[in-house]
Amino acid sequence: MEKWQGVIRQYSDYLPFSGDETIVSLNEGNTQLIEAPRLAEKIAPNGGLKLFLKYEGLNPTGSFKDRGMTAAITQAVKEGSKTVICASTGNTAASAAAYAARAGLRCLVLVPEGKIALGKLAASLAYGAEVISIDGSFDDALDMVRQIVERQPIALVNSINPWRLEGQKTGAFEICDQLGGQAPDWHCLPVGNAGNITAYWMGYKQYAKGLPRILGGQAAGSAPIVHGHIVEHPETIATAIRIGNPARWRQALEALDESDGLITAVTDEKILESWQLLAREEGIFVEPASATGVAALKQQIELGAINPRGKVAVCVLTGHGLKDPGTAIDMAVPPVSLPGNLAALEDYLSG
Ligand code: F0G
Repeated sequence: MEKWQGVIRQYSDYLPFSGDETIVSLNEGNTQLIEAPRLAEKIAPNGGLKLFLKYEGLNPTGSFKDRGMTAAITQAVKEGSKTVICASTGNTAASAAAYAARAGLRCLVLVPEGKIALGKLAASLAYGAEVISIDGSFDDALDMVRQIVERQPIALVNSINPWRLEGQKTGAFEICDQLGGQAPDWHCLPVGNAGNITAYWMGYKQYAKGLPRILGGQAAGSAPIVHGHIVEHPETIATAIRIGNPARWRQALEALDESDGLITAVTDEKILESWQLLAREEGIFVEPASATGVAALKQQIELGAINPRGKVAVCVLTGHGLKDPGTAIDMAVPPVSLPGNLAALEDYLSG
């Protein structure tokens, strides 16, 4: 295989770029599809489930957003934009900041005050974005950026921007390539603003032999699509998906309908349970929101709504665990403190 140079070059035949643009890339994509037999046994005991994890935390800024951002920033540069803006729960912000830095663009990010995980804030600031913390939710921030781009020559790089979806659909292409050309039976993922579920479904329809059924998971305190109405004050420990009015709501419903899929709400407790299973059973550290697809699959199997026997399921793990070190520390048993000598260690080991 040729050297990997990012998703636009890799899948140029399947993307609507003309070929004469300057591609802004950090060689994103080509993330691992990891088989997870121990986790499969936990979520479907004796169930004969073949479970794969698409580890999107391995992207350059630690989340799946980089797939869409290479496309959105490449297009923004092509159109002559000098400034980009987004609303974000953190990962879009970090990704926009990195790709804007690489392209020499000014980057503004609006985040909900106090609800952005530390690693995302640190990265956005390090990449040189102007981080604006607003006294409101992600949904409020998205309203603000939608309006400002109507008034000022600034490019919007949230997933309302169609180029974001074009880039993100490459995740589906890769899964098919990694599974030997076939789509899985079930494709499971967290749903926040519903850009990723929309993009994956576009990607499968364009590329796959056979289509998967889509299983979306929303956090119970932020589950507008599950409940069928806007959630005014969304809450969840999974801050990445703390969203009450998803921009791609209609397209998410289409994906669910067309794929004969479903969307379910999972409690924070269940999200954290799957988050811990991923780390402890498979050695894969993700941020809490990223475990929501696994939690949704586990829940549907337990409810008898999904029969795992002989099925292939892919769960997308959307962001790296180091994005949210605070939750990891809060959840953990604190480290053991010992004097710095061997006798103390031997005492400890003897119980
Ligand atoms: N997982 C993670 C880690 C995310 O950061 C997001 C969204 C999602 C899942 C949900 O994806 O919005 O396409 O349905 N994060 C956005 C952000 C909202 O601002 O970083 P979605």
